[in-house]
Amino acid sequence: MGWLRGIALLSLGVLLAGRVNCQHVKNNVPRLKLSYKEMLESNNVINFNGLANSSSYHTFLLDEERGRLYVGAKDHIFSFNLVNIKEYQKIVWPVSHSRRDECKWAGKDIVRECANFIKVLKAYNQTHLYACGTGAFHPVCTYIEVGSHPEDNIFRMEESHFENGRGKSPYDPKLLTASLLVDGELYSGTAADFMGRDFAIFRTLGHHHPIRTEQHDSRWLNDPRFVSAHLIPESDNPEDDKIYFFFRENAIDGEHTGKATHARIGQICKNDFGGHRSLVNKWTTFLKARLICSVPGPNGIDTHFDELQDVFLMNSKDPKNPIVYGVFTTSSNIFKGSAVCMYSMTDVRRVFLGPYAHRDGPNYQWVPYQGRVPYPRPGTCPSKTFGGFDSTKDLPDEVITFARSHPAMYNPVFPINNRPIMIKTDQQLYIGSATGVSQLPLHRCDVYGKACAECCLARDPYCAWDGSSCSRYFPTAKRRTRRQDIRNGDPLTHCSDLHHHNNPSGQALEEKIIYGVENSSTFLECSPKSQRAVVYWQFQKQNDDRKEEIKVGDHVIRTEQGLLLRSLHRRDSGVYFCHAVEHGFMQTLLKVTLEVIDNDHLEELLHKEEDGDGSKIKDATNSMTPSQKIWYRDFMQLINHPNLNTMDEFCEQVWKRDRKQRRQRPANAQVNPNKWKHLQENKKGRNRRTHEFERAPRSV
Ligand SMILES: *[C@@H]1O[C@H](CO)[C@@H](O)[C@H](O)[C@H]1NC(C)=O
Ligand SMILES: *[C@@H]1O[C@H](CO)[C@@H](O)[C@H](O)[C@H]1NC(C)=O
Ligand SMILES: *[C@@H]1O[C@H](CO)[C@@H](O)[C@H](O)[C@H]1NC(C)=O
Repeated sequence: MGWLRGIALLSLGVLLAGRVNCQHVKNNVPRLKLSYKEMLESNNVINFNGLANSSSYHTFLLDEERGRLYVGAKDHIFSFNLVNIKEYQKIVWPVSHSRRDECKWAGKDIVRECANFIKVLKAYNQTHLYACGTGAFHPVCTYIEVGSHPEDNIFRMEESHFENGRGKSPYDPKLLTASLLVDGELYSGTAADFMGRDFAIFRTLGHHHPIRTEQHDSRWLNDPRFVSAHLIPESDNPEDDKIYFFFRENAIDGEHTGKATHARIGQICKNDFGGHRSLVNKWTTFLKARLICSVPGPNGIDTHFDELQDVFLMNSKDPKNPIVYGVFTTSSNIFKGSAVCMYSMTDVRRVFLGPYAHRDGPNYQWVPYQGRVPYPRPGTCPSKTFGGFDSTKDLPDEVITFARSHPAMYNPVFPINNRPIMIKTDQQLYIGSATGVSQLPLHRCDVYGKACAECCLARDPYCAWDGSSCSRYFPTAKRRTRRQDIRNGDPLTHCSDLHHHNNPSGQALEEKIIYGVENSSTFLECSPKSQRAVVYWQFQKQNDDRKEEIKVGDHVIRTEQGLLLRSLHRRDSGVYFCHAVEHGFMQTLLKVTLEVIDNDHLEELLHKEEDGDGSKIKDATNSMTPSQKIWYRDFMQLINHPNLNTMDEFCEQVWKRDRKQRRQRPANAQVNPNKWKHLQENKKGRNRRTHEFERAPRSV
């Protein structure tokens, strides 16, 4: 238990599993979209309407072993039966009268602030949870006994043992904490003061001295809002284990004009115990990098989704490389929307191994640090894997000094495929609630499709692959009876027909070059194997590295089989990408370079060959020989009935003819040498299919 961040996550799971229903990525909709009213009417939702004296049901912990959902709220912690949330137990955990009065005297609101808002709810050991609340601006923590077996039916608070919650829960109930409890130690990103200004990443609990990020240094953290925390191993050696924090914060001064928010990923080593002389009880391995989630705008200016709202990790077979999904919104006033981007840990690690951000130059701007980086490289965990030092306390002073002044990386982390996998232009991604808890019938497993991979990718904890269909899984059942392990939910381990985790269809990228004649039409064939995948086309102009989405219209028609370009124009020359989007995975199926041969040139070429003059084709037909007429007929047919093979064949002929002509008349073959040289070079990269047409032209 412990990984699932409650209902927000479940809804994200549904969204990601939801099939994109039409041609545009922007029109992505979840497969499942029921209004609240519809659900009530269909008896599809069971509500817990909340207690009159409570609110803020925001902190979730799913306990699959015991079949419970724990929810932290104002002054209460609930334990719901997962099968029917109407069945629940509760712990009442209010603040004392004196505490509440103190809070009131400090000018806080008695109802909305001066209570114990539960902010941390984590699995501690086999029998206990660890819970922290704001304690009316006086954070407090305790242990909750839940028993070792579901049958124990235990849910009670250790009344005798309260701990200081500073650095674990925020003081202010409006603020969130991102926390992670591993090996009896609590990692939390939170504000550790009454004013809500001293934000830090802490490690508390356990028998080590608490440790935190450097205080009052905006280079480390700049008014952050923490989103989540995860442990991700770096190697097979646990000494290299790292904790990653996801957050958003104000951009560092000078990094951006105006007040901007950046999404961040921060790392610390699990075995970081701080420095010896400097950075004492502070992280010595903290590094952060920007997470980019953006779409190119029509005017060439990217729209950035910077307001990171939630993160979840989809584990792959390799625990070192989960796929990171980030849910973002925009901070822009002009464009309101949300997006989901996915990141690979390989890219994250590459950025952390890249240049550090450094302030330099006359304007004191941020530049990549070019100087000597001390050894061991700051950010590396003390371990046998990467070098011979045992503890961060043994780190040389110059390493500590460097680490203290270079917490940020220069390069950002870009999402896989450089763009979001999903964009939504109105903010319906979350099911949040201030008044109660709703139970959606989560066993509509059939919505996830008919394939094992889809069932698995859906990662719905209530559904499992039973060998032939996606069906309801009872969380209370014995562990070994289930096929789907949501913690390690990986189609690779559960479904035998897959090859690669981001390539559920197993299709490989096809690359080709095709030729089209101006004013003729051409067809770019691309149909994904999977019927459920949605095709997404992009175009990249020649000599331009930007890709833009292809808009359908009079000029471009989309069919099930591909893209029909009517009446080619020279500006249609370029590279066309056909992507398949399925279950949040985008995969490029086809990359086709289209070369549009202009009419003038083509005619000129034909007649250079046949007549030796450059007159217009219409005038030329009269003086044609029969074989030339056939050739001309073929050519006209080709224009009216576009077909890739004949088009290729035709161009092959032109090219061959040109080659032959040059062999025969090397001196006057210079019709347009650059153009044909270019064509010839393109030929070298052509695939086998088009080489089949390397035969003598019919008409010559
Ligand atoms: C809130 O009300 C419930 C009954 O509805 C009661 O059991 C509980 O003790 C109350 N909580 C507080 C903090 O007074
Ligand atoms: C779990 O932790 C609690 C609180 O420290 C302790 O009382 C309990 O004995 C522990 N349980 C186990 C199984 O270690
Ligand atoms: C190609 O089409 C355009 C627009 O319809 C037209 O103006 C032009 O004359 C055509 N070119 C040829 C060679 O047919």
